[in-house]
Amino acid sequence: MKDSKGSVRLLVCVKERISPTSPSCAARGSGELLARLDAELTRRGHPGRVEIINCFGQCNRGPNMRIAPGGRFFYGVGPDRLDEVITALEEALAVESVSQGRSDP
Ligand code: FES
Repeated sequence: MKDSKGSVRLLVCVKERISPTSPSCAARGSGELLARLDAELTRRGHPGRVEIINCFGQCNRGPNMRIAPGGRFFYGVGPDRLDEVITALEEALAVESVSQGRSDP
């Protein structure tokens, strides 16, 4: 994953807590989701658009993700919602591209 700070990216919480009674995104499978997202985004031509975050403060609602900068939050993400998350990221990337005066070939 390359450093893409400042540009559109997907923040994924991978916080893991030792106590089994304390909720965390990692305990709910965010690590596996992260790997799947990174692979799919690379396949679609968007490598380096995933950034690991160590807690959004919404631990009871995980796994949690967010489009950055300043974009939509996704709570309780499971494998069935990865397409929804990727679509939102691609929409944000398209807006970024237009705002920077670029267009896809
Ligand atoms: S552990 Fe993911 S939001 Fe806190």
